Amino acid sequence: MNRSFKIILWVFFMGLIVLASCSLMPLKNLQNGEAENTDVIDSDLIIVGFSQLGSESDWRTANTKSIQNALVEKNGFSLIFQNGRQSQENQIKDVRSFIFQEVDYILIAPVTETGWDTVLTEAKEAGIPVIIVDRMIDTEDESLYVANVGTDKYEEGINAGRWLEKYLLQQDLDDTSSQVTESIPEETELQAENGQNTDTINIVVLEGTLNSTAQIGRSQGFADIAVNHADWNILAHEDGDFTKAKGKEIMAQYLQRYDDIDVLVSQNDDMTFGAIEAIHEAGLTCGVDGKITIISFDAVSEAFDMMEDGLINVDIECNPLQGPLIAEIIGRLENGEEIEKISYVDGKVFEAENAEIDRIGRSY
Ligand code: AHR
Repeated sequence: MNRSFKIILWVFFMGLIVLASCSLMPLKNLQNGEAENTDVIDSDLIIVGFSQLGSESDWRTANTKSIQNALVEKNGFSLIFQNGRQSQENQIKDVRSFIFQEVDYILIAPVTETGWDTVLTEAKEAGIPVIIVDRMIDTEDESLYVANVGTDKYEEGINAGRWLEKYLLQQDLDDTSSQVTESIPEETELQAENGQNTDTINIVVLEGTLNSTAQIGRSQGFADIAVNHADWNILAHEDGDFTKAKGKEIMAQYLQRYDDIDVLVSQNDDMTFGAIEAIHEAGLTCGVDGKITIISFDAVSEAFDMMEDGLINVDIECNPLQGPLIAEIIGRLENGEEIEKISYVDGKVFEAENAEIDRIGRSY
């Protein structure tokens, strides 16, 4: 190889390197190596940091997949995913790492509602728009987030209460109200007043993670229907943390404490699965032909199996397929379009009788 040919080759390779570094931009390295998948990012992609709150339930897995499948390269995104493992402290660290990496958008599925103002102010000062997903945050400053994409958890609680009042009327068990609730009172305590009639309906509630939007909304919605029924006696409501293990543990305690439970309201399917095990281990029955009527939330695939088996009476859907809507909202923000501050994906009410048909075409 002569000298001038070597020089041409060298210039050619240097050119290639310069070209590559124009389209591939390294993200800032983290001192503690927290980021999982962010070494080199195509600068044409929209970089999104997503702090998911955990992996506590089947629902959460479906929600994560929906977002990961929507925010992919072929749609113009590069997603940095972090699992907060049920800890707000972890989530705050993750958000700070996204700010440090100068991502384009931050998504947060917040484990609980309060305590976000400081880190969201940091994101705002860095000029990074934040979208709150699935649940909501409690803040006085709405400018700390650009949008909230999720489901209406209060409406889900209302749907559970309305289903129970219709069911009891059909069974001729509710003497104190001949009609279903039409108006909803402003704010109600979860504990309904004890009725004087003999057919008291004894209810226990398995609540999700305390101070999470799903727990607050579903509890309040159900309470706002329960208050119209003096014979609904809410015996107890305790934190089952949205997990199967905790649901089983708390239900076993309820069954030891109370010998006449008529209805279980379980604020997610995973806790319901645990509760059903506890009910069976106590030698009792549940569901359509059983002693304890079960109202569950989420409507994941295994819950449909259980409805088909008659073990769960009704499931109030909380739709986890939020990824496509999030992608659409980011696209619109990129185009400078106006967006709604709150966008909900719809949910239905699925009853055991129709479960076999209703589940057709569902992906989770
Ligand atoms: O916020 C949605 C709730 O969180 C789902 O009902 C539950 O399964 C999840 O853990």
